Amino acid sequence: MQFPPTSGQPQMQVQKLPTGIEGFDDVCQGGLPIGRSTLISGTSGTGKTVFSLHFLHNGIKQFDEPGIFVTFEESPLDILRNAASFGWNLQEMVEQDKLFILDASPDPDGQDVAGSFDLSGLIERINYAIRKYKAKRVAIDSITAVFQQYDAVFVVRREIFRLIARLKEIGVTTVMTTERIDEYGPIARYGVEEFVSDNVVILRNVLEGERRRRTLEILKLRGTTHMKGEFPFTMGTHGISIFPLGAMRLTQRSSNVRVSSGVPRLDDMCGGGFFKDSIILANGTSWGIDFEQMEQDGLLKIICAYPESTGLEDHLQIIKTEISQFKPSRMAIDSLSALARGVSHNAFRQFVIGVTGYAKQEEIAGFFTNTSEEFMGSQSITDSHISTITDTILLLQYVEIRGEMARALNVFKMRGSWHDKGIREFVITGNGPQIKDSFSNFERIISGVPHRVTTDERSELSRIARGVSTED
Ligand SMILES: Nc1ncnc2c1ncn2[C@@H]1O[C@H](COP(=O)(O)OP(=O)(O)OP(=O)(O)O)[C@@H](O)[C@H]1O
Ligand SMILES: [Mg+2]
Repeated sequence: MQFPPTSGQPQMQVQKLPTGIEGFDDVCQGGLPIGRSTLISGTSGTGKTVFSLHFLHNGIKQFDEPGIFVTFEESPLDILRNAASFGWNLQEMVEQDKLFILDASPDPDGQDVAGSFDLSGLIERINYAIRKYKAKRVAIDSITAVFQQYDAVFVVRREIFRLIARLKEIGVTTVMTTERIDEYGPIARYGVEEFVSDNVVILRNVLEGERRRRTLEILKLRGTTHMKGEFPFTMGTHGISIFPLGAMRLTQRSSNVRVSSGVPRLDDMCGGGFFKDSIILANGTSWGIDFEQMEQDGLLKIICAYPESTGLEDHLQIIKTEISQFKPSRMAIDSLSALARGVSHNAFRQFVIGVTGYAKQEEIAGFFTNTSEEFMGSQSITDSHISTITDTILLLQYVEIRGEMARALNVFKMRGSWHDKGIREFVITGNGPQIKDSFSNFERIISGVPHRVTTDERSELSRIARGVSTED
């Protein structure tokens, strides 16, 4: 029996249209389904309008695909002004006939009488505009507003259903915004999702601790794959940026190239320095170097920000922007623990994954400090939720030895390399940190209660240790 050849068959998979919105195309694994409508749902102020504008703006700017923006809420002038705050010159796009803003905002004079209302006129205007401007992308902002303008809900539903069917027929890729009341409640008001349920994106703005956190979730894209879960995003100077944390290659092989820590002895302790693109966590008390000259020489850039000044996603965005402009080979964050104040473990962990993922992608060595609660004595690194993300952990701690405060340093872990396991004394001198010999005659240093071990005791201990190891 002969089987027909499998090649040469028409492409049956859902094709996707890149939005050009940073991170979004990663989350939906290519873009929005071409020729279909996608619902963008969120509570008030979550960024639905900005998302729609960003989608159209990128279409014109990056792909030369004209767009139609249908506004039911804000006036075209307001839309242009708001877009300008993101540095998008929509006015120019309008003048070049690349963008058409179709004003469907409420007419103060005439409300349609319930029952007699239909969207035929509007559907024809949209249809006409799409053909006239050869539009590939359409945004409708918002469907909820249509319901609010007219009383007869069932009629509006029927009309919107017609509109969507028509847009599908024409083959444009559409985003439609719709409002919801609860961050974790029904998808949209007025049961809109029932007839545009194929593709749903949810924007959230959740209060977490004392800070607001924006997230984006793709609820579904029918017939195609996408990443699952909520991803943090920001609205910054260039619009929307999403952080698709899972898409970052965290497991990528670190380079074998070593870089000096600047402290020769520490390099020895690490088997020849830190790895070039590794993440180093210094856990404990202060480190201390004077950077002023380097900054003057343009070799160093110091960014000063209060942790509470903005959300973690914004901090991440700022760091990424600075890195992409300054192109450093190393970065330090002092301190990471300050950023953890007042945010959930999950948000903090996502931030650390975001920073480390970006650092690795750009092949930057990252040095983070983590100030522990305990001034002296035991501290649990594994408690900090971030130890697994880092490649190297340095433990710094105050210890009391013979009535004096001394600093102790230990290379706690170092992925992919031999390292010194000893606990060494280190001092901060005028020339920076200096590492001295190990506290070889002491034990229980890390626990904060150093105990001097006499020679007799030591041989006794090693005798016991030998005994234990021969027993099993
Ligand atoms: N230039 C800007 N830079 C950073 N953030 C901005 C900028 N302009 C607006 N925003 C943020 O976007 C929010 C408004 O977003 P948008 O208008 O898209 O929300 P929406 O979901 O459409 O809300 P609504 O349901 O009320 O229409 C503002 O509250 C503000 O937080
Ligand atoms: Mg809006």
